Amino acid sequence: MNTFIIGIAGKVGSLLARELIARGDDVSGLVRKPEQRRALAELGADDRLGDLTALSADELAELIGPADALVFTAGAGGAGKEATTAIDGDGVVKAIEAARLAGVPRFVLVSVFPEAWRERNLGDDFDHYIAVKKTADIALTTSGLDWVILRPAALTDAPGQDTVALGPAETHGEIPRADVARTLAHLLHEPRISRQILELTTGSTPIPDAVRANVRTR
Ligand SMILES: NC(=O)c1ccc[n+]([C@@H]2O[C@H](COP(=O)([O-])OP(=O)(O)OC[C@H]3O[C@@H](n4cnc5c(N)ncnc54)[C@H](OP(=O)(O)O)[C@@H]3O)[C@@H](O)[C@H]2O)c1
Repeated sequence: MNTFIIGIAGKVGSLLARELIARGDDVSGLVRKPEQRRALAELGADDRLGDLTALSADELAELIGPADALVFTAGAGGAGKEATTAIDGDGVVKAIEAARLAGVPRFVLVSVFPEAWRERNLGDDFDHYIAVKKTADIALTTSGLDWVILRPAALTDAPGQDTVALGPAETHGEIPRADVARTLAHLLHEPRISRQILELTTGSTPIPDAVRANVRTR
């Protein structure tokens, strides 16, 4: 399988690249800083240099080239409303168009629980982030692509547990990025999971079983 990752130099993106390469897949992705190229080359991933906000959909499609799947795990990371709109919102819309132009059939989006930390009253920028992520979800669900939306709980850098709770509605909690990456790798390799929104948090089900349990039989 050949997967293109937007956000490949990020924490989830690089863990996912590692997972997929360990399976023998071809992995490439978009990086915006030349100094990130070496680490990706050491992983065995190809990079394409570009900034999502500066590229047109056509230019991004050229960079993506032929791929079986595109994973979007980029994010503005709290850099303010404008950046959130440009990357987590418009960036997803651009990536959807680029996937269409490049003929990439499958699109896996890393989103967020709509109710994430709402009780903490984290302010306008966080509310904006949640709203933009939902708008991106809507754009993907209406894209006509073979899509999967994964909504992880709050991300941690704790070691992966290899067990999770995964389903259409889960209770918001925390999840190690390593478990998110491993779940994404399993989802990419399970074509029967399509046009589904799945929420992911810590739990007791081994990741392969959790993914298999979400295959719809009809
Ligand atoms: N933090 C949480 O608790 C949480 C919870 C649920 C979901 N999420 C979502 O999980 C996803 C991954 O999180 P993470 O922790 O892996 O984030 P991360 O480490 O900050 O990675 C995000 C990546 O996006 C890239 N990016 C940002 N702007 C870009 C642009 N204009 N062009 C190209 N690439 C760009 C960054 O590039 P640089 O390396 O150049 O900065 C970075 O590599 C995000 O979509 C986030 O919204 C996060």
